[in-house]
Amino acid sequence: MNHIFLLITGNDILYSYRPTMTDFLSFKKRIEKLDKKYIWHPFTQMKEWVDGRPIIIAEGRGPFLKDISGRWYLDGVSSLWVNVHGHRKKEIDEAVKEQIDKISHSSLLGLTHPPAALLAEKLVKIVQKSLPSNAPAALTRVFYSDNGSTAVEIALKMAFQYWRHAGVKSKKTFLSLNNAYHGDTVGAVSVGGIDLFHRTFSPLLFRTHRSPSPYCYRCGLGKKYPSCKSLCLRKMEETMKKHHEDIAALIIEPLVQGAAGMIVAPHGFLKTARRLCNKYNILMIADEVATGFGRTGKMFACEHEEVTPDILCLAKGITGGYLPLAATITTEKIYDKFLGETSDLKTFFHGHSYTGNQLACSAALANLELFRTGKTLRKMQRKIELLGKALDKIKDFTHVGEVRQKGFMVGIELVKDKKTREPYSIADKTGWKVCYRAGEKGLIVRPLGDVIVLMPTLSISFAELKSLVRITAEAIREVTGE
Ligand SMILES: Cc1ncc(COP(=O)(O)O)c(C=O)c1O
Repeated sequence: MNHIFLLITGNDILYSYRPTMTDFLSFKKRIEKLDKKYIWHPFTQMKEWVDGRPIIIAEGRGPFLKDISGRWYLDGVSSLWVNVHGHRKKEIDEAVKEQIDKISHSSLLGLTHPPAALLAEKLVKIVQKSLPSNAPAALTRVFYSDNGSTAVEIALKMAFQYWRHAGVKSKKTFLSLNNAYHGDTVGAVSVGGIDLFHRTFSPLLFRTHRSPSPYCYRCGLGKKYPSCKSLCLRKMEETMKKHHEDIAALIIEPLVQGAAGMIVAPHGFLKTARRLCNKYNILMIADEVATGFGRTGKMFACEHEEVTPDILCLAKGITGGYLPLAATITTEKIYDKFLGETSDLKTFFHGHSYTGNQLACSAALANLELFRTGKTLRKMQRKIELLGKALDKIKDFTHVGEVRQKGFMVGIELVKDKKTREPYSIADKTGWKVCYRAGEKGLIVRPLGDVIVLMPTLSISFAELKSLVRITAEAIREVTGE
């Protein structure tokens, strides 16, 4: 337990100090008290939080998290979908430490540095290797920021300004999907489509056109797949046909609408959307913040349907879950339109204090190298199969409406009535109860409403994957009364 005291004091003299159980308990209590007194947690009803017993994380190792009392948990959601090769991955640890010994941060405004330049090259190479990359469609230019929401803000502003420079001033709105989630900043919320999160802010948001979500289990158009003959895509085309003159870009989460509950689009949906964008002269922004870096079983979700967007948003897994970093990558064709004399005012006026931070770029470089040296994607394929087979057993549960899986992205939708698909009432908090029970059994998972999300680290072992599903199944059974 020594490390705990080093954390509080930062004092080397205490290395040999062995705290008593009383010391330890009072430290734990103090952290809980400070948390409840000073922290406002994200997406959290604080009234309930302050009555609860938080799990206080002290350490991580591989796919596991250790709490302050020494109890280990399987990290079933990769610490909010970011961790890739496990916690405390030696190569990433070392890359960050090595960079700390040089410099932790200098600006990319008016300066540059090796980690940012080397990472930009690596990202472009990886993207071009993964996605069809014929010029002028090839993605060649990297704009850094700090998180998924800013990657999206940048993509929206870039698309908007591109059309202004191209002389098409009418293109000043966007097309996005119902059930979309692109982050929590105001631009990202404007193109979001999850009522629960977004409705409150509607007076603040800019207008966008909407297209139906490919949520076949609860089709908003009242159809059944495949007899619907993809009515949602025909609706998308109708909107594009009618409004293409004012639509700058379609923004889409390729293959999986993550935050809406891991909604997996039918095969071909993305490719058709790309074809429609080409047909109606609309840019495509692919938001791979959640799906990127192997989550769907390929490096990028767009790869499954051989689609190259005009703008690609990356974040979350880019640093292997170590540090905040994002990249918005675009084509030379778009980039070129921003070139001119300073007085032409074509500059992309956007940037953040920590844009292209050295530590984050170094972590990202090490993370990407591990994909190659560790053959991560190849090794994942059998694990994806095993995960699918293990999940098959859950499908028949009385209160499991649908199990959706794409690679290592899984959503288990719980329903009150399987036959009618009637959802539980929000007040039942069924999803939360299942996750709480899973926590008691040593598994950290989070629900999205009543969808239990599983999103393990790509490095998880076969045995750990089995535990992940077994504990989830037990928790569902115990809470829903199978
Ligand atoms: C598809 C997608 N876009 C954007 C974001 C926002 O990312 P961040 O939380 O890093 O701002 C998320 C977060 O879950 C996401 O799933």
